Amino acid sequence: MAQTHFGFRNVDEAEKARHVRGVFDSVASRYDLMNDVLSFGLHRLWKAYTVAVAAVRPGMQVLDIAGGTGDLAREFAAAVGDSGRVVLTDINEAMLRVGRDRLMDRGVALPTVVCDAEQLPFGDATFDLVSVAFGLRNMTHKETALAEMARVLRPGGRLLVLEFSRPAGPLRKPYDWYSFNVMPHLGRWIAGDAESYRYLAESIRMHPDQATLKAMMKANGFGHVDVHNLAGGIVALHVGVKC
Ligand SMILES: C[S@@+](CC[C@H](N)C(=O)[O-])C[C@H]1O[C@@H](n2cnc3c(N)ncnc32)[C@H](O)[C@@H]1O
Repeated sequence: MAQTHFGFRNVDEAEKARHVRGVFDSVASRYDLMNDVLSFGLHRLWKAYTVAVAAVRPGMQVLDIAGGTGDLAREFAAAVGDSGRVVLTDINEAMLRVGRDRLMDRGVALPTVVCDAEQLPFGDATFDLVSVAFGLRNMTHKETALAEMARVLRPGGRLLVLEFSRPAGPLRKPYDWYSFNVMPHLGRWIAGDAESYRYLAESIRMHPDQATLKAMMKANGFGHVDVHNLAGGIVALHVGVKC
């Protein structure tokens, strides 16, 4: 059976999704708090930047993939208005439940679908915009998922991939130190789970860098791709146009 990586470990391809599910089942209830703590709140700025670049307008059809607790979907829902639609999706039911409850508490009700990004249950050319924030890294077959995202976009529609990436040279050592020495401890103290946060640090190192992801997007349906580095490349926003 083909092998893939789960963090720094090699696992059977068929097993990776189960391992990833275990991570997000474990962290779902503390996910939002941990995001704020681990990123010093910066994930809010990265998402706000993504929402600004998305420039969603009233009437648009938007799909948020691996949407988890719904940060992007909430902002998009406010922008599409009554004539548009935002669909919040994730492979993990526990994450989506937290997201759906948070949205409901704020008076936002969205169609919410449990699905695998590698097999999207939507027709061709359904959406004007597709987003995936900090989700692609966890997928087993990233090319398959990117091709699915291209399939459900209309020609000219855009895919926004917000993801950890490769930081600039001077940042790498301190960032590695923080990732491997601090993050798992914070995971244990706050979420009672060091292993999931070790996986987070490892999965970031195994994820394609900016240029590699750009090439993957170009090979899977996106004729034009722009890359926006954030926080010195710790995070990058890739914007692909389907054409
Ligand atoms: C780090 S969370 C990101 C959540 C949210 N987008 C955010 O930015 O806060 C990663 C999410 O990817 C989801 N995920 C992992 N593999 C997936 C797949 N194959 N299809 C859809 N979602 C997936 C996980 O269940 C998890 O909710």
